Amino acid sequence: MKRILISAGPTRERLDPVRFLSNRSTGRMGYALAAAATRRGWAVTLVSGPVALEPPPALAEFVAVESAAEMASAIRERAAAADCVIMAAAVADYRPVRVAAQKIRKSPGTLMLELERTEDILGSLGSRKRPGQLLVGFAAETEELRAHAEDKLRRKNLDWIVANDVSRADRGFASENNEVLLLNARGDRIWLPLAPKTELAEQILNHILPEV
Ligand code: CTP
Repeated sequence: MKRILISAGPTRERLDPVRFLSNRSTGRMGYALAAAATRRGWAVTLVSGPVALEPPPALAEFVAVESAAEMASAIRERAAAADCVIMAAAVADYRPVRVAAQKIRKSPGTLMLELERTEDILGSLGSRKRPGQLLVGFAAETEELRAHAEDKLRRKNLDWIVANDVSRADRGFASENNEVLLLNARGDRIWLPLAPKTELAEQILNHILPEV
């Protein structure tokens, strides 16, 4: 049985015991991909940040994580065994340098937060991709969708990238629907018009999975 590793949802980067930095990802796209892959007979491992969704039925494994660092180690431990890895998660690029042990109290004036980079999980996977492994990333863009996606595809050594415009409120991030541009390393560019994410997941897999 072929194995697929999928990440989904946002990450949370703690500031203090009651606060975190996160983003608007709902996990819907990644969960839809995981459900579609199980229906095709793949052994699916879903690594998920905190979301309000029920894990799809018939997963091989479900791993709940919170931070980018936790997601990185969960993915690292499982990536070598995967025939395909799809990073659909909206992983934080930055985390607070210091996590306060106690709740941060307000005081007069402004508060500066110092942030440091998190590991680029997908970039690390790309730099040590084994032959035959299919690596798929997502790109969330607000401008120059195609140019930025092409750059990410190359830079991260991906086989496919799913690029979506997140500047519109009615699609993409935190929406039921999306439209995406699929790009692969061979130069194919495939436009998938606006559709529910469940339908889009089927179309994405139709294009990428026959390659495994
Ligand atoms: N990603 C990751 N690890 C991170 C950040 C992102 O693996 N620390 C993955 C995401 O899961 C997604 C892709 O990388 O598949 C997004 O690439 P990224 O370079 O972060 O692009 P954007 O989030 O679109 O941001 P930017 O343009 O600032 O690079």
